Amino acid sequence: MIDKINELLAEVNEMKARNAEELEALRIKYLSKKGKIPELMNDFRLVPPEMKKEIGIRINELKDLAQKRMAELREQFAVADADHSDLDLTRTAYPVQLGTRHPLTIVKNEIIDIFSRLGFTLADGPEVEDDWHVFSSMNFAEDHPARDMQDTFFVESHPDIILRTHTSSVQSRVMEVQQPPIRVICPGRVYRNEAISYRAHCFFHQVEGLYIDKNVSFTDLKQVLLLFAQEMFGNDTKIRLRPSYFPFTEPSAEMDISCNICGGKGCAFCKGTGWVEILGCGMVDPNVLELNGIDSSIYSGYAFGMGIERITNLKYQVKDLRMFSENDTRFLREFESAN
Ligand code: PHE
Repeated sequence: MIDKINELLAEVNEMKARNAEELEALRIKYLSKKGKIPELMNDFRLVPPEMKKEIGIRINELKDLAQKRMAELREQFAVADADHSDLDLTRTAYPVQLGTRHPLTIVKNEIIDIFSRLGFTLADGPEVEDDWHVFSSMNFAEDHPARDMQDTFFVESHPDIILRTHTSSVQSRVMEVQQPPIRVICPGRVYRNEAISYRAHCFFHQVEGLYIDKNVSFTDLKQVLLLFAQEMFGNDTKIRLRPSYFPFTEPSAEMDISCNICGGKGCAFCKGTGWVEILGCGMVDPNVLELNGIDSSIYSGYAFGMGIERITNLKYQVKDLRMFSENDTRFLREFESAN
């Protein structure tokens, strides 16, 4: 009997379990009603009386040891389990709040998409520009008022380096590296030294378009702009071109579309006229072609430029221009469904 107890003591000391099931198996093997230790207790009856005391003590020691080892093993699992105590696989996934695209980006992408379908590719240029690309190469006279300090931001100590006032500078950037046919649109940010109010800002966004090839005519320009207006504002949209002036186009025009808010009947937005202005355009002035290394006796072209804020206002009636740059998430979230 003593031998058997010693054997079990050694076994219990070595007990190992890797998980709760194995631990339970050990409990059944040693401590359950039919386990090895209660079995020993059963046999206790047969122990001669003079040995009962010693054997009794040894059996109790064995039982205590077995229970202590069980408790130790259980604790080890409890620690491991505690690491996952907050793991609830039935819960829905974390509500990750996705950002939304900025309304100006939504509209810019739409403009790009429309002109891409008409065969225009993207071009861009720097926002910090030199006088040549913004003004001189675009046929601005030396004393043109747009060069004035009131309109243009100058980079201090570099009278020649400015923040571009329009994306027309990219026309020049494209022409100086590429011969016709040229068919590009150039979206980008521009800067003007204006007091900030609900209707003006010191920076805003434009999309420039430039098409140069043989035999490009004003009719081509008008057709492309009509297609654009109808894609952007709906098939019923009408356009009208009013004579205008830009140093880099001749003839020049401003384009209105039938007011898409009142459908042309006249409302507060179109000041009762039924028309709203959306862009400037014209045939590229032959001087501009020559200044940028393109033979004006072979090629002709058209150009147009529009403000993205203006188009966005027409689509979404944003009344205060400042909203576009304040990044108020309540405003931005309103465009969630347009993303
Ligand atoms: N650059 C002009 C502006 O900023 C827009 C324009 C572009 C007009 C191209 C004609 C042709 O107002």
